[in-house]
Amino acid sequence: MTSLLHSQPKAGYCEPNNSSRVIQLQTNLDFINPFENEAVKPTESSKDSQRMMDEGVLMTWEDLWVTVPNGKNRKPILQGLTGYAKPGQLLAIMGPSGCGKTTLLDALAGRLGSNTKQTGKILINGHKQALAYGTSAYVTQDDAMLSTLTAREALYYSSLLQLPDSMSIEEKKDRADFTLREMGLQDAINTRVGGWTSKGLSGGQKRRLSICIEILTRPRLLFLDEPTSGLDSAASYYVMSRIASLNLRDGIQRTIVASIHQPSSEVFQLFHNLCLLSCGETVYFGPASSANEFFASNGFPCPTLYNPSDHFLRIINTDFEQDVEEGLGKGVNTEEAINVLVKSYLSSETHKQIQKEVEEISESDSGAIEKKRIHAAFFNQCFILIRRSSLHMYRDISNYWLRLAVYAAIALSLGTIFYDIGSSYGSIQARGSLLTFFISVLTFITLIGGFPPFLEEMKVFKRERLNGHYGVTAFLIGNTFSAVPYMLLISLIPGLIVYYLSGLHKGLEHFLYLIAVLFATVMSVESLMMVVGCIFPNFIMGMIIVGGIQGVMILIGGFYRLPNDLPKPFWRYPLYYISFHKYAFQGLFKNEFEGLTFGGDQYGGNKTISGRDILTNTWQMEMGHSKWADLAILLGMIVLYRLLFLAISKSKEKAKPMVAAFRCPQAKLFTTVTRGNEQN
Ligand SMILES: Nc1ncnc2c1ncn2[C@@H]1O[C@H](COP(=O)(O)OP(=O)(O)O)[C@@H](O)[C@H]1O
Ligand SMILES: [Mg+2]
Repeated sequence: MTSLLHSQPKAGYCEPNNSSRVIQLQTNLDFINPFENEAVKPTESSKDSQRMMDEGVLMTWEDLWVTVPNGKNRKPILQGLTGYAKPGQLLAIMGPSGCGKTTLLDALAGRLGSNTKQTGKILINGHKQALAYGTSAYVTQDDAMLSTLTAREALYYSSLLQLPDSMSIEEKKDRADFTLREMGLQDAINTRVGGWTSKGLSGGQKRRLSICIEILTRPRLLFLDEPTSGLDSAASYYVMSRIASLNLRDGIQRTIVASIHQPSSEVFQLFHNLCLLSCGETVYFGPASSANEFFASNGFPCPTLYNPSDHFLRIINTDFEQDVEEGLGKGVNTEEAINVLVKSYLSSETHKQIQKEVEEISESDSGAIEKKRIHAAFFNQCFILIRRSSLHMYRDISNYWLRLAVYAAIALSLGTIFYDIGSSYGSIQARGSLLTFFISVLTFITLIGGFPPFLEEMKVFKRERLNGHYGVTAFLIGNTFSAVPYMLLISLIPGLIVYYLSGLHKGLEHFLYLIAVLFATVMSVESLMMVVGCIFPNFIMGMIIVGGIQGVMILIGGFYRLPNDLPKPFWRYPLYYISFHKYAFQGLFKNEFEGLTFGGDQYGGNKTISGRDILTNTWQMEMGHSKWADLAILLGMIVLYRLLFLAISKSKEKAKPMVAAFRCPQAKLFTTVTRGNEQN
């Protein structure tokens, strides 16, 4: 441990480092350090370090501005930032909440939101170039993971998805276990991630698991947004020291950029460079070890026994407008203190030096970075996603199991209310009501029960997709095939209950057709949810939009208002033909009535009516095609919706850099992170 500490840069601190305390922290936490005995060499031969620099990612940014709409004008969030992140070094971005730390990370990683406008020059190894899959990773603040998987499973599946097929399964498992231990998660290996239904990993453990997932492939460039939030100071230190010393362990010279909210003195010592922001402006950028001196030279010396980062943040925090306290400053207002520091930094030697370095790097050619890394093959990824998603669905009682229970209860109610429906004249209306109600209620419960779990999966997909773990097609295949068995189950059991209790049209073919239509309806609703969820990934908006669409589709499906009575413009042409409920109702009605005869009405005496007559005259069904054609159209609609999801997701990804380029054509931007799975 001592060797590790000695290898770290000596950042400025106000209290002499107490190494005995550090040793104490280690025993308290029981972290396993597999490299404890490894000789960590603080200095390599200059040849070696040059080679590592050549392999690494050297990122520079110059005069970087980011603005967002603010009424008729635009509000700057980042104001002309200049800096660099070098291989083998850890750059910390610090500043009060809302100062632009996440925005800077997003800008550097090419992930800014669509309403932002970015200008400036961001270069990698002196080039405007994109990063290949596995070369960069971004650990966001939002820990989106499947809640039912254990920490080990989450990481294990992630290693299968990300690591190349040339590695054996055992090697991948070992890498996953090793990474978990590295982040001190060995005691939580079998704990589930947890979500709103069940408590699982703590916030800090989830953070560490997210970090594990992203460092599995040993990326050259690592962005971390507040990796220590939710951790106590001891855990923060160990997580940050693991991150900072990753480079020293495997010889890969990573470039690490992390935003940190409130580092302890020990954590502060791990930083090589510090970027201190206040309201989007640079208060200080340079070696972390010189920050103290910079503040002291401007009249804000760090008091003894004071954490330097606390001191810096206190001086530059404008959220709680106050005079900088006696002893911390010269009794000046926070705004003035920031002005003094910003101006002083701009005229400082450090700033000039940084600008000179950035210019030199921009003009130099440090070589293109590795363009493509090998990851698991497409079909393997699909297979792994099916397995992972199936396991999640099996364990998640709030998804298909809960729906199965509700469907079964509704089926029981329907079955008993319509018990032994018979073939009297009155049963014609009863059969129609039973079938349409069954389909309608299935539609809405599928939406209510299925949308939240789908959004959870989408969140995980989005995070993994942005980090290039796999593509949209693999996700779609994984999601579709893992859900099919559950959808069959939730169609079969309620269908069986209703069919036998109410005594619908007898015969295996009729029963199987009923189940097939129930299955196709559930799947159509889920497919529509995917399309809407991809455009509006928001719970309330998505529910309202899909609910509204379903309501209209049911209304114009041909039962509540007979087809010939539907107003021709708009409602009949084209909406009636687009509504998948039309095909579900029509198919089920044909399945039910064709081949049966019903008792005559009070006016017809004993005369019986054939099912075909009822279909034509009473229900006004289209009899030009069979019930199988209706089912085929329904299945075709499912394929269409899913292809639409694929097209929208892909075009959203493709449109983002184009929109950014259109919004600020003059800017030389680095906006995209090339995904290794682009074709997927
Ligand atoms: N896309 C956006 N649209 C509008 N305002 C934004 C957007 N992104 C960030 N902001 C604003 O910019 C400021 C900085 O945000 P952020 O970078 O998230 O801060 P930090 O990570 O330092 O807490 C905040 O005031 C935030 O509200
Ligand atoms: Mg933030």
